[in-house]
Amino acid sequence: MLKRLSLTMSAALIGLASMAEVNYQVVPMPQSIQLDNSGKMFSLDKGLAIAYPGDNAQMKRNAEFAQEYFGLVPEVDAKKSKATIRLTLGLESENPDAYQITVGKKGLNIQGASESGVFYGLQTLRKSIMNEEGESVQLPWAVVAGAPRFQYRGCMLDVARHFMPVEFIKTYIDILALHGVNKFHWHLTDDQGWRFEVKALPELAKKGSVRPYTIVGQNVNMDDPDNVLYDDTPETGYYTQAQLREIVAYAAERFITIIPEIDLPGHMVAAMSVYPELGCTGGPYFVRPYWGVDPDVLCAGNPKTLEFIKTVLGELCDVFPSKYIHIGGDESPRVRWEKCEKCQAKKKELNLDNEAQLQTYILKEVESFLGNKGRELIGWDEILEGGLSEGATVMSWRGYEGGIEAARQHHRVIMTPTANCYIDYYQLKEHNYKEPLAIGGYLPLSKVYDMEPIPAELTEEEGKYILGAQCNLWTEYVVSPDHAMFMLLPRLAAISEVQWLQPDQKNFEAFTGRLGELEKIYRKLGYKFCPKFE
Ligand code: ACM
Ligand code: ZN
Repeated sequence: MLKRLSLTMSAALIGLASMAEVNYQVVPMPQSIQLDNSGKMFSLDKGLAIAYPGDNAQMKRNAEFAQEYFGLVPEVDAKKSKATIRLTLGLESENPDAYQITVGKKGLNIQGASESGVFYGLQTLRKSIMNEEGESVQLPWAVVAGAPRFQYRGCMLDVARHFMPVEFIKTYIDILALHGVNKFHWHLTDDQGWRFEVKALPELAKKGSVRPYTIVGQNVNMDDPDNVLYDDTPETGYYTQAQLREIVAYAAERFITIIPEIDLPGHMVAAMSVYPELGCTGGPYFVRPYWGVDPDVLCAGNPKTLEFIKTVLGELCDVFPSKYIHIGGDESPRVRWEKCEKCQAKKKELNLDNEAQLQTYILKEVESFLGNKGRELIGWDEILEGGLSEGATVMSWRGYEGGIEAARQHHRVIMTPTANCYIDYYQLKEHNYKEPLAIGGYLPLSKVYDMEPIPAELTEEEGKYILGAQCNLWTEYVVSPDHAMFMLLPRLAAISEVQWLQPDQKNFEAFTGRLGELEKIYRKLGYKFCPKFE
């Protein structure tokens, strides 16, 4: 049972001069907080030992996180250990991410149904304590338990439109971890930049990552791209495979899987600028200095296209161990295919009815290629249009409808509709003078919070195909790490309660009350955030 008790113990209340505040009501809210009302406390003092099972590398790493957060000293749990703080496994729950924090007579135990559960327990504890340097931390005796509603708890970042440095990607991952997110969907390539090193194609990232200039202000009147204002600041940068492997490992320690995206067959102009033979017209093409949907896409009839895709995805799979590989599939106009001899010949050869089925043809080839490597594909909801390949998972972005249709066809679904999940939109009504330029739209914190990933139209059985929810940070107008954090926070906090809480546990008012404490952590860790919300 949820007890809405304020645990905040002010220094005045208990007569200690420098005592940290402790409040187990954090974001995402634990499922239950059972206070022992005896008033007894456990002193979480720096330098205390924290014992962990010695045969488990992930638990050792968890103990090191505890060292970082609380100044504890990791120690292998031995029979004679006098440690009063323990990290343990074996919590009974079908949910591997479940955790329980027990503070009582025996000290402090952070127990998980698996190693990730222990990590989430540490995150909850970390958010419960707002201590200043040197302050004593007194934990009230209690049992605090939590478990996420969804197994897929995602957040996307686009680094194609604006490159984000490796150090910031790690910070981004830290931020996701703080919020209990476990999937980092990484949009690595687009018309405006190619950011993934492919060793077999050394020119691809070298040249495809360079945009010599970029449109200034809003992307409007693009009928005549030669007649709009551009800046003179090159946008460059890509990730080497060595850097990517390091980031994959960094994320894994925080129980985050990176799902890389290579968007195809549309959103490929940066690649086509390097290999113009991959487009229907043969180009020339240029890394796009403006935004929007480009009519030029990979030629579906040229065998070199599949060869290219397989080379790229082959190396992508070498670098990213994720079961899921995102292959985009969104906003891929078919106007070039309609006029292209090679595409039309392929359509005839395969006896297809329309150009949408040409995209499905590519999709099926890609699915079988990935399948041979033990991987599965995720695509944006447009992949439904030409008939879906069997094992595909659909990311529903143009609303809930694609997800509903896919779930009814017994395909797995991730819900990320623009109306609740596009955090590149403005977050304040009076954005003109309160926010930096954004792509448009209006997505206040409350609307993110209100999201229900399982639409009422689905039966209980169909609802099981909804794996979870995700918010998306596209970066056409997001120019720096600080700006990215401003867009992300605190809206990520809202999506994190969508991902973790059962519908009857959600309460926006109560959530905003908890947000104040979370913002203190943002400040402490140097995370930028939008200080107002609606
Ligand atoms: C998308 O926003 N084009 C998936
Ligand atoms: Zn073609």
